[in-house]
Amino acid sequence: MKIAVAGTGYVGLVTGVCLASKGYRVTCVDVDEEKVKIMQEGVSPIYEPGLSELMMESMENLTFTTDYAEAYKDAEVIFVGVGTPEKSDGSANLTYVYQVAKQIAQSADRDCVVVIKSTVPIGTNDKLESYIHDKQKNKDIKIYIASNPEFLAQGTAVRDTLHASRIVIGTEEEYPKQVLLKVYEKFEAPKLTVGRRSAEMVKYASNDFLALKISYVNEIANLCETVGADVEEVTKGMGLDPRIGNRFLNAGIGYGGSCFPKDTKALSWLARFNDKEIRTVRAAIEVNESQKFKLVKKAKKYYDDFLFLNIAILGCTFKPGTDDLREAPSLVNVPLLLEDGAHLRIWDPVGMENFRKRIGEKNICYCNTIEEALEDADLCLIFTEWDEVKKLDVRKYKELMKRPIVLDGRNCYPLERFENTGITYGSVGRRTVNDIN
Ligand code: UGA
Repeated sequence: MKIAVAGTGYVGLVTGVCLASKGYRVTCVDVDEEKVKIMQEGVSPIYEPGLSELMMESMENLTFTTDYAEAYKDAEVIFVGVGTPEKSDGSANLTYVYQVAKQIAQSADRDCVVVIKSTVPIGTNDKLESYIHDKQKNKDIKIYIASNPEFLAQGTAVRDTLHASRIVIGTEEEYPKQVLLKVYEKFEAPKLTVGRRSAEMVKYASNDFLALKISYVNEIANLCETVGADVEEVTKGMGLDPRIGNRFLNAGIGYGGSCFPKDTKALSWLARFNDKEIRTVRAAIEVNESQKFKLVKKAKKYYDDFLFLNIAILGCTFKPGTDDLREAPSLVNVPLLLEDGAHLRIWDPVGMENFRKRIGEKNICYCNTIEEALEDADLCLIFTEWDEVKKLDVRKYKELMKRPIVLDGRNCYPLERFENTGITYGSVGRRTVNDIN
């Protein structure tokens, strides 16, 4: 079976490589010539655990090209995994999806199934079908459109694809259903065929539910701090109820990334567009916006202002295991601290280069080790729960910092580790150890 994949971001590239690893011949198409050149050498342009290795192993089945016409001409299945970024009004920008649809309509020269993996508003697959049929150059062939939402998370994308929690196939027609069941034959995962609009909704409803879960637990955490409960004990107690489950109950400084922030806003927009209001999701967005600033607000308890303070920042990516900064809490907090006159010492194992490009170098020292970042610091803020941070001997905070005040936005350590250390340790939803005020 000849497969083409449009777009080589997280969704497209991981899909292409995983399909190639199962023995399919896959042609990955991207408009970015530089990126295509890199991939032709067998190098992954994104940091994703396990992806480079799997790509190297599967190179004999992989082709990378900018020549979409050649790729789509005789493909039996065309996966579309291009981005649907957020527009200023919160709705999804479908420009890239339509660009690919137009290219497919002009190039396809045999019956094929176009599989939309990109996250698109409900009803988009229907519109794409009419659009492609209108623009179709070869009117003798049948181009089917199916929805097949993607559930991979960055940092575990390869594992999430090879061992998916579920494969949702959205189509009302038998032919695309059978083709996709065949494509996924070698993937062990529950397979569910639903209507196309339902498949589109499964994606938003799943992501927004997870975002809601995080915002809920963050509000519970904030309340725990006020009433003297411990959010980790609380979530342990909640998580034992199988109806609730124990995952995605980690309190912190809010969700970031390329999906939850965008997909919550897109569903809210879609509801409003249809004269409906989805209040729970709107609340999740609001809670998340304020949660991002929690550490800086907490820090004000120890310092009236940050002028000339040395502040160590540990982690700047939106979560560990990725160099992606999109919607990361660090991106909104660092400019605030700089505006207040702070001098920052930033450490992140893979995200610093991207961060430097976004935020620059003024009053920032980018450090190669955590120890270097902590040197002479008046305050340490933890934005990302990297393993290196979790494994750090906490006595280092006392040894290296001028004033050992550590505010942890990701609850990296058990509280006991800080007892009798002389280090002030504040986290989210738990009591502050060795509090000084
Ligand atoms: C998310 C979903 O988890 C995937 O299932 C989905 O396919 C993907 O979006 C997508 O739509 O493409 P991702 O954004 O890569 O994946 O990352 P997550 O691991 O879900 O984390 C998102 C954010 O939530 C991170 O900032 C993380 O720190 C935060 N989070 C997660 C919490 O604050 N608490 C938790 O308990 C879990």
